[in-house]
Amino acid sequence: MQSKSGRIGILTGGGDCAGLNAVIAAAVKHGTQLGYEFLGFEKGWEGILDPPMYRELTFDAVRGISHLGGTILHTTNKGRFGAKKGAGDKLAIPEDILLQAKKNLAALGVEGLIVIGGDGSLSGALQLADKGVRIIGVPKTIDNDLEATDMTFGFQTAVQVAVDSLDRIHTTASSHDRVMFVEVMGRNAGWIALEAGLAGGADAILLPEFPFELERLVEFLNHRTQYQNASSALVVVAEGATVGGKHVTDAIAAGYEQHYGGISQQIMAVVESLAPSRFEMRNTVLGHMQRGGSPNANDRNLAKAYGVGAVDAYHRGEDRVMVSFTGGRLGTVPIEKAVARLKLVSDDSVWVKTARALGVFIN
Ligand code: F6P
Repeated sequence: MQSKSGRIGILTGGGDCAGLNAVIAAAVKHGTQLGYEFLGFEKGWEGILDPPMYRELTFDAVRGISHLGGTILHTTNKGRFGAKKGAGDKLAIPEDILLQAKKNLAALGVEGLIVIGGDGSLSGALQLADKGVRIIGVPKTIDNDLEATDMTFGFQTAVQVAVDSLDRIHTTASSHDRVMFVEVMGRNAGWIALEAGLAGGADAILLPEFPFELERLVEFLNHRTQYQNASSALVVVAEGATVGGKHVTDAIAAGYEQHYGGISQQIMAVVESLAPSRFEMRNTVLGHMQRGGSPNANDRNLAKAYGVGAVDAYHRGEDRVMVSFTGGRLGTVPIEKAVARLKLVSDDSVWVKTARALGVFIN
């Protein structure tokens, strides 16, 4: 490839996940060899607003970080650049904020941005692109719910954390003959619950995508204990599952009204009210355990491929695109397409079919 020079900005936006540092390192290592310079903006979009917060990312600065969890650039899912509320509602970023970002980038000589983020960060990126800033997106969400790519990094690590936990909870569940509820992440899409539940031997998996009748779960648990000679059960619940059509959000998380958490505890309480003293039950919420720590091997490699792919797309002159990994191939898709709708679990999913064929209850 022909060498070009220019300065590219990199930022990580939204919730963190395992593999962010591997993307940053791969982009910088590949890009510096092509003649680019990099500035890393800190705390997501906040870093390009007043007062700008950034650091130079040289080849040396990104050595030895690919296996580390979190993001050396820090991130936030709040702030002045909010472009989405919940699953669908798009918000217009104020004009003065967009122009401030554009002006700060120009003053630093930054000609384009690599934005590593999910639905919300990439929706914000598009609004900045409309102001003439060149954008390449890298898909990031542990929920794996971006439509335009088969896989987002961080997802498989989260699934593995959940499976390791389920393996542990399994043995204590059977020792005590208990029904154990385990809540995992997944706001709108239940991929973590589904894949971890199937791998971890869950007896029931409750997903946000499907309507939910708790009486059926109670019947299932009754049948299992009475006729299947099974005195314990594992119930995996996605945090975005609902009871009576309602989500459970954490009132303590001020400023982020859609912070989910606590649905499994509520489901357990309803099961108790429907079948008083029938089951001995306990609840575990895995929460941010699934987001922290080192990426597994697959996520590291996927993240590295995305970092290289983002720089290559920039080098080819592409704009307003997100790198994607589909059918084993790295490519790019328009960001508009990538954020148009979420990739949700459906009855057609191979994991749903497999689980149901094995007798797993899925709501
Ligand atoms: O969107 C990714 C995600 O991890 C969700 O699964 C979860 O609901 C949310 O982020 C948690 O966000 P926070 O880190 O603000 O608690």
